[in-house]
Amino acid sequence: MINKKMEQAINNQINAEFYSAYLYLAMAADFESINLKGFAQWMRTQAMEEMTHGKKFYDFLMNRGGKVVLADIKAPPKSWKTPLVAFQDAYKHEEKVTSLINELVDLSIEIKDYATNAFLQWFVNEQVEEESSLNDIIHSMQLLDKNTAGLYQFDKELGLRLFVPPLGVTI
Ligand code: FEO
Repeated sequence: MINKKMEQAINNQINAEFYSAYLYLAMAADFESINLKGFAQWMRTQAMEEMTHGKKFYDFLMNRGGKVVLADIKAPPKSWKTPLVAFQDAYKHEEKVTSLINELVDLSIEIKDYATNAFLQWFVNEQVEEESSLNDIIHSMQLLDKNTAGLYQFDKELGLRLFVPPLGVTI
């Protein structure tokens, strides 16, 4: 049976992961509204990934005999000043998620919950990848600056991103 403090923390993390999906869907809708369909596709894919993250925590908590309690998901912003600002916000958000994952790891160590600690290692690695891919996009966009032809090309490039569910996770 999972420790009550950890149960609550994982329930909070489920909410944070689904909020991430909400945030990226809001960004996708904003990109779509200005016809940046490739950026929108990238964000839609990101949102799908976030739902699998939430689902991974959901399944894990149930497998450990915990009770999943779903809370309200707060509304994300509706629009962003520029595509660059949106990706910068996404990066900041991922830094926040990384710190939440790190807090969960700290808690697992504090209460000697080795099973949760092992489970969390997947997320520790995933956060490195998420921050890195957003960082790469931000740098590319900064290089493009006001080059609209380049931005259009980059939009096409990001639009090639497809969702691949992580092993063993279904939505
Ligand atoms: Fe699930 Fe982007 O953190």
